[in-house]
Amino acid sequence: MKKCLPLLAAFFFSNAVVAQESQAFHATMDGKSAIELQKLFPSEVEILKTTDNQSAVFLTEKAAQHLHKNILTHGPGYVYQQDAETALDVLSKKTDNNQKLLNLTITENDWVNHSISKVNAENIKNHIMTLQAYGTRRHDNPKGKQAALDLKTKWENMITASGRTDISVSIFNHNATPMPSVILKINGATTPNQSVIIGGHLDSISFSGQAPGADDNASGIASITEMLRVLLDINFKPQRTIEIMAYSAEEVGLVGSKDIAQKYASENKDVLAYVQFDMTNYKGSAKDVYLTTDSYNSNDLNLFLVELMEHYNKTGAHTFTYGNTICNYGCSDHFSWAQKGYNAAFPFEASFDDSNPYIHSSQDLISVSGSTATHAAKFAKLGLEFLIEAAKSSQAYMAVQTTKTNDFKVVVDKKILKLINFKTDITSIKIIDASGKIVKEVVNPKSDFISLEHLKEAYYLCVIEDNNGKISTTKFINQ
Ligand code: BES
Ligand code: ZN
Repeated sequence: MKKCLPLLAAFFFSNAVVAQESQAFHATMDGKSAIELQKLFPSEVEILKTTDNQSAVFLTEKAAQHLHKNILTHGPGYVYQQDAETALDVLSKKTDNNQKLLNLTITENDWVNHSISKVNAENIKNHIMTLQAYGTRRHDNPKGKQAALDLKTKWENMITASGRTDISVSIFNHNATPMPSVILKINGATTPNQSVIIGGHLDSISFSGQAPGADDNASGIASITEMLRVLLDINFKPQRTIEIMAYSAEEVGLVGSKDIAQKYASENKDVLAYVQFDMTNYKGSAKDVYLTTDSYNSNDLNLFLVELMEHYNKTGAHTFTYGNTICNYGCSDHFSWAQKGYNAAFPFEASFDDSNPYIHSSQDLISVSGSTATHAAKFAKLGLEFLIEAAKSSQAYMAVQTTKTNDFKVVVDKKILKLINFKTDITSIKIIDASGKIVKEVVNPKSDFISLEHLKEAYYLCVIEDNNGKISTTKFINQ
């Protein structure tokens, strides 16, 4: 702290100057973008310090707005920090990298299949329409706060109708904004101190008139609400605690999620995994779900999402496809969790370049993104697969158990994969990496060995299909 004194004194002084011009605040952002922004707005942007291409900055609302508009409707963003000290702390503290290796498995076939068959796009569509009808859900507009209180009531009514007493909803207030976040908890029946969390932001923003935010991000909120509806409908009682979060003020620097992730980390909360739903209803690309592969995301969690989609969404009524893309910056609330060292993932509606061009404008309407909400329904299915498999059921499934799906085991030694229980009715073996890329494929294998010498030491997924179309998946380390 002492060492920084001259620096702090310098920017406190200049802060006063900057602050006079318009509302100003502290933030952290990409180092290169900070320099570019400062060139454009010399008197509106103060760079306090840069470490490893991350800068702590003091900037005006005007400069921040430019940052948003810079690359069409959004672009390299910034993360709001409450004061200079916090902003500098973020730089000095190396990103918490205590992401624990996840040991997630697929065991809940019956619950998952039951749940995904209940997802109804119509509910998602109706909820998106309700949210876009606010006109704006800007965090500093009374309608933003109202939207949060109304969502709390909606979730509470759903819980009351279900008769469940192990579920609660609470408001999380923030210092930097009048709009609260909303947190729903389904208490784990076995290990309540371990959580799996999904979330999305409820606020919206616009640089041209109203901010209906139908895709960004009524779609994500409607998708997670449909997941909740299905979990209640099938009376799912998890072993681990499930939390569902609707954040305030994401659009002005991840404000809501940052506060919450910070609180959870300071209380040493055991969050197993976090999945973000932000923009789910615009099908801009050939494939359906795009896993973001930014380095702050968890490879292990991405690989689990790949495994879920290989297992549950390859054939049959719930088929959809996946690819990968990259934001290249902390583009949404999952970043807040990742920065606190938690395993985070962000499955997205399209490739980054093909994503909805109408966001952050008065044209972000459901009529533009997808009036049937069928795209968003795929995300509701993926979310249910994640929640049920990561939280695990505490109840036996009521119907007759189907046969276990995994007939296969693989052992890997010196980068040679060997299949135990090799059968000639296997039609394909695929090896997939954590970005969802197929790195090796053998069609109609003749032997039970596959050499993986060319692949680096990492986790992979092995997907085996037989001539009945049955799919088995197994995760392994190539070593
Ligand atoms: N939903 C967007 C993020 C997004 C947009 C991701 C398009 C991928 C493609 C989010 O609400 C947003 O606008 N984020 C800001 C950054 C944030 C830190 C203020 C952005 O991208 O400008
Ligand atoms: Zn946005």
